[in-house]
Amino acid sequence: MTTALVTGATSGIGAAFARRLARDRHDLVLVARDAQALGHQAAELHDRHGIEAAVLRADLSTDEGIAAVEARLSERAHPVDLLINNAGFGQRGSYLDVPVADELRMLKVHCEAVLRLTSAAAEPMRRRGRGGVVNVASVAAFLPRGTYGASKAWVVQFTEGAARDLAADGVRLMALCPGFVRTGFHQRAGLGTDNIPGWMWLDADRVVDAALRDLARRRTVCIPDPRYKVLMGAARLAPRGALGGLSSRAGRRYGPRHDGQ
Ligand SMILES: NC(=O)c1ccc[n+]([C@@H]2O[C@H](COP(=O)([O-])OP(=O)(O)OC[C@H]3O[C@@H](n4cnc5c(N)ncnc54)[C@H](OP(=O)(O)O)[C@@H]3O)[C@@H](O)[C@H]2O)c1
Repeated sequence: MTTALVTGATSGIGAAFARRLARDRHDLVLVARDAQALGHQAAELHDRHGIEAAVLRADLSTDEGIAAVEARLSERAHPVDLLINNAGFGQRGSYLDVPVADELRMLKVHCEAVLRLTSAAAEPMRRRGRGGVVNVASVAAFLPRGTYGASKAWVVQFTEGAARDLAADGVRLMALCPGFVRTGFHQRAGLGTDNIPGWMWLDADRVVDAALRDLARRRTVCIPDPRYKVLMGAARLAPRGALGGLSSRAGRRYGPRHDGQ
């Protein structure tokens, strides 16, 4: 039996990872801030799949929270074979609308926590000669717009570099770059989604299936849907200035809700 640790496990993509990994008979360590949601989820996954599901309440926007998860990843007696760095959130508003303190909180969760947890997991994985890390980024990483996309671009760049450095040691790293996924993400951030066409929405369980398939194939970046592969292929060929203008116009349509919230 192997053990997987999933951050942001209680909702959306993280919950889909937890369900799929439990079905595949991995023991789990579930990480998020809401202790009650974690407890319910662990009990349900244990009862349904007969796996061990431990919970670790941690706020990854704080040093203590990150340190608690680092400590779990470093436990020699209970090694973690697969780390899913998934916790994350969106910002309500464009650059300068968002207070700098909130931007720093996002960088702490999306970048510092991902760096520190990947390092804490990869070191013992390298010693054992096996293991995997999935860092959840976004297709926003490939578009020159917004601080959210900038933080996810860091995740992709970091993951690709570290994957190369660790490939010979049996440790696989992969950045997962979904498009729009139906989760609690947009509502939590206060982002209106009425203008997003139906065909652009992805299902979290399918995203996770594609991610685990690509990890097994030793891919270092996974765009988990053919439609987004085509879109991102076109984005790579488009002039950067034109792409910035286009994604800014799209961003104005998909943005903060104007319903008084
Ligand atoms: N949904 C999309 O369209 C989409 C697209 C591309 C990429 N992504 C990325 O996918 C990842 C998961 O997003 P999602 O759509 O599944 O969002 P979600 O449904 O809002 O779930 C976010 C999860 O992260 C946890 N979390 C948030 N802040 C945290 C913190 N400070 N410390 C610890 N846990 C925290 C939440 O639990 P608690 O609140 O209990 O802590 C929750 O379990 C994110 O990294 C996001 O950027 C999402």
